[in-house]
Amino acid sequence: MTFSRRQIAYVINTVILAGVVGLIMSSDKLRSSTETEKSADDSKHYYGPGDNKQGYDSINYKTNALDLQKRIGKKANLLEFVNNPPLGLPPVPVPADNPVTEEKVSLGRRLFFDRRLSINDTFSCAICHIPEQGFTNNEIQTAVGVEGRSGKRNSPMSYNVAYLELIFHDGRESTLEQQVWSPFLARNEMANPSIGYVIDKIKAIPEYKGLFEKAFDGRGPTMETVGMALSSYQRTLNSADSPFDRWHFGKQEDAVSEQVKKGFELFNGKATCSACHLVHEDYALFTDNQLHNTGLGYQASMGIQGKTTRVQLAPGVYAELDNEVIKAVSRPKANDVGRYEVTENPNDRWKFRTPTLRNVSLTAPYMHDGSLHTLRQVVEFYNQGGVPNEVLSPLIKPLELTNEEMDDVVAFMMSLTGSNIGVLVADAFAAPIGDISKDDPNWAHEKKAE
Ligand code: HEC
Ligand code: HEC
Repeated sequence: MTFSRRQIAYVINTVILAGVVGLIMSSDKLRSSTETEKSADDSKHYYGPGDNKQGYDSINYKTNALDLQKRIGKKANLLEFVNNPPLGLPPVPVPADNPVTEEKVSLGRRLFFDRRLSINDTFSCAICHIPEQGFTNNEIQTAVGVEGRSGKRNSPMSYNVAYLELIFHDGRESTLEQQVWSPFLARNEMANPSIGYVIDKIKAIPEYKGLFEKAFDGRGPTMETVGMALSSYQRTLNSADSPFDRWHFGKQEDAVSEQVKKGFELFNGKATCSACHLVHEDYALFTDNQLHNTGLGYQASMGIQGKTTRVQLAPGVYAELDNEVIKAVSRPKANDVGRYEVTENPNDRWKFRTPTLRNVSLTAPYMHDGSLHTLRQVVEFYNQGGVPNEVLSPLIKPLELTNEEMDDVVAFMMSLTGSNIGVLVADAFAAPIGDISKDDPNWAHEKKAE
């Protein structure tokens, strides 16, 4: 039943997006593009007020959304997280031709939050990779781009992307530098008509004047330097030193509860999770950098679902909707055969990349299509042996975990939240937000429409 919720993702996505956009638009005057590094007293959680959705499933939910101007950010020394990655992470791989520098990180951060880099000046990378929502989007299963155009996959988090060997859920891209052009150009994401369009727009925006030249030895904005700058910012978003790391790698006995310790034992033992979510001797990325078929994609492709779907209408308010009714009002969901779309090898049908589990407590909903809403549901899915199909991974089979054991595995995953999350989110809040303004040449096309 839970799996079939995705059927209505299109309708729900659109409604929610309208809400999200409304919220962003509702501040009378959006924050100007200058760095707003307000001073705040240290007792405050800089990152607390934002638009996180913790407790959204309860009727007692109270929004803590603030308009962008009221957010208190705090700039961090991001370079430190590249030079000295937090406990539990290996050295950060950095391409020889794109060393991370202060100038590139600051430029990349500006680009990441610039809404003008989309066809209609509304979509930045951060609209889908929302800092206070785990650098993903907790509200929707699959991403929605400009004008409510929906995609078929869930936005992954931006934490620890520096370590990705396979980029995207189907592993179709290999470097962060190249990756950025997919969302820039995808019609259902930022919908820019061409690479040149984006480059020309950046050249026309006054705030970028001289920044590329300074960061790249005199080179201005190009297809390559835009990718290099954005990657440099994303390469700093490394987060570990979680309670688990302090216990397992730091040998601090009391850093986690007994339940977490039991959960980790199950993770490596009876639950066989570590067969794919690898833990190395002196670091852990919780991925084998491989693609596997767990049956989830197969199930969706075959339209296997229950009779009704539980739909959340408001905090704590749910309705059981008949799937026939939902089908009648929604567009059929695009099929997703995963890795097969890259290789066209029938053995690769419904294979998806093993994601990291670091910070996974912040990034619901889960899996490539966001169809599982809680970590508990994910563990139940594995416990039942995934969904059998002719190309199911031989590593996926019924586990016979008890309810208590499933809770333990969830507790373990909850212990993987990094200690610098607050610092990284606060830094994101301090970032300049690029928006059209009267001084901006892009304002011109708005004028014409009058
Ligand atoms: C409309 C929402 C949306 C926007 C805007 C967007 N992304 Fe994404 N991002 C996604 C989705 C969805 C995926 C997964 C796509 C897939 O696997 O096919 C993704 C994947 C990624 C990944 C790969 C992560 C991984 O785990 O493999 C990176 C890195 C990334 N995006 C960075 C960016 C950057 C940089 C920008 C701005 C230039 C951006 N995104 C804009 C939705 C978005
Ligand atoms: C056969 C390899 C394999 C095994 C064994 C495995 N996983 Fe996974 N895991 C994956 C793959 C592949 C995905 C991505 C699936 C998708 O996107 O549809 C995934 C996704 C996840 C996710 C979702 C993460 C996110 O960001 O969406 C969680 C949580 C997870 N696994 C936990 C576990 C746990 C707990 C176990 C043990 C009970 C386990 N996995 C066993 C390969 C595996």
